[in-house]
Amino acid sequence: MRLKMKIVVAGTGYVGLVTAVCLSTLGHNITCVDVDENKIKMLKEGKSPIFEPDLEEIMLKNKELITYTTDSKNAYRDADVIFIGVGTPEKKDGSANLKYVYTVAEEIGESLGKDAIIVVKSTVPIGTNDKVENILNKNKKDNIKIEVVSNPEFLAQGTAVRDTLHAQRIVLGVPSKHAENIMKQVYDGYGQPYVITDRASSEMIKYAANDFLALKISYINEIANLCELVGANIEDVARGMGMDSRIGDKFLNAGIGYGGSCFPKDTKALHWLANYYDYELKTIKAAIEVNANQKIKLLKKARKYYEDFEGLNVAVLGLAFKPNTDDLREAPSLYNIPILIDEGANIKAYDPIAEKNFRKIYPTEVTYCKSIGETIKNADICFIFTEWDFVKDMDISLFEKLMKKPIVIDGRNCFKLDKVQNYNIIYESIGRKSMIR
Ligand code: UDX
Repeated sequence: MRLKMKIVVAGTGYVGLVTAVCLSTLGHNITCVDVDENKIKMLKEGKSPIFEPDLEEIMLKNKELITYTTDSKNAYRDADVIFIGVGTPEKKDGSANLKYVYTVAEEIGESLGKDAIIVVKSTVPIGTNDKVENILNKNKKDNIKIEVVSNPEFLAQGTAVRDTLHAQRIVLGVPSKHAENIMKQVYDGYGQPYVITDRASSEMIKYAANDFLALKISYINEIANLCELVGANIEDVARGMGMDSRIGDKFLNAGIGYGGSCFPKDTKALHWLANYYDYELKTIKAAIEVNANQKIKLLKKARKYYEDFEGLNVAVLGLAFKPNTDDLREAPSLYNIPILIDEGANIKAYDPIAEKNFRKIYPTEVTYCKSIGETIKNADICFIFTEWDFVKDMDISLFEKLMKKPIVIDGRNCFKLDKVQNYNIIYESIGRKSMIR
């Protein structure tokens, strides 16, 4: 018989909300806590504050099991297990800002009315779980026992629910067998293999995994840049590399660099941490540098055709840092569009999902369109920043038919070259030869 627990999750961002909603599928009673009243109001109305496939459906299906509140103290009081899933944003120096994690730990300590396991789900630098334990011990009543478990998440935006329900592993950094057993009861039913280790190693697994993937992307991007110079094709190169199971075929898509809430932040945070210990992580430093250059590569390519963009009609397809998300954090669009605005371009953009967030930053500087056709009509050049399906599946002849000058600069290799060659367009992509007709 599966044990039903009272689980509280602090933070309703990507990590917290997805963890909470997915745990409800195991029959636990879940309380989601957040300081943001608007978010809690939305959640109570059955609406997810983030765009994530399947999330709202499960929220609605399991609504009897999930409650949402800003009254954190009351929620923590009688919890069996409390997950900390609040943000750890990047500070100006590249280190992780842990103030939200520590504030939650203080509050939990003050509120606990019974023994509990506190689980750190947020991505935190090595040693943070120990600090959380100290804070809890300082603030809790003497008769209450707590144990702190490190349990990093590996979910990617856009596939967060699937990544959680079908994760390749559950990493648990545990201080005792007792804590390990409780965590196995929490996850009983997921059926995923466990990696049981100490807390420091668990914290390190998260950073090492993310930074390795970032490094893999920067590596393939550098090889792509070299392919352009020597006349090789990165897609064939990546396919040939990826068939070697020691390398693997994932994360070998060359493009305009990684964005999002994790890779940029986690590479900088680990690099910062190593420096703190007087050690230089040279590979990670290189990955960060390569990525910064890669993000503005399209503009460099475009300058082959136009010295500057003043007065030009510029079409932009895709604003999000990757498909299936409305998230703009570290998105290449945010690095390129300000330059285009500064140079006086007339920008039309299309991204039905991320438009809302982009509008908050650039309400008037960009014209937001409702279709590809409307966006590229009369354009002097078109940039592709996100490989949405609507772009990959589009009718390529539209560029030829609708643009003033059919110059397409594709940062995500959305089209096969042998298909593009059937059209009268100029097509530049990443790590492949330019198609100029
Ligand atoms: C990532 C990790 O995948 C996840 O395990 C971790 O918990 C959080 O960070 P996410 O940032 O949501 O997830 O997206 P991901 O799909 O990993 O892509 C990150 C960035 O890398 C995107 O900008 C994407 O376009 C880029 N990318 C990815 C490439 O440029 N090439 C690739 O081959 C893969």
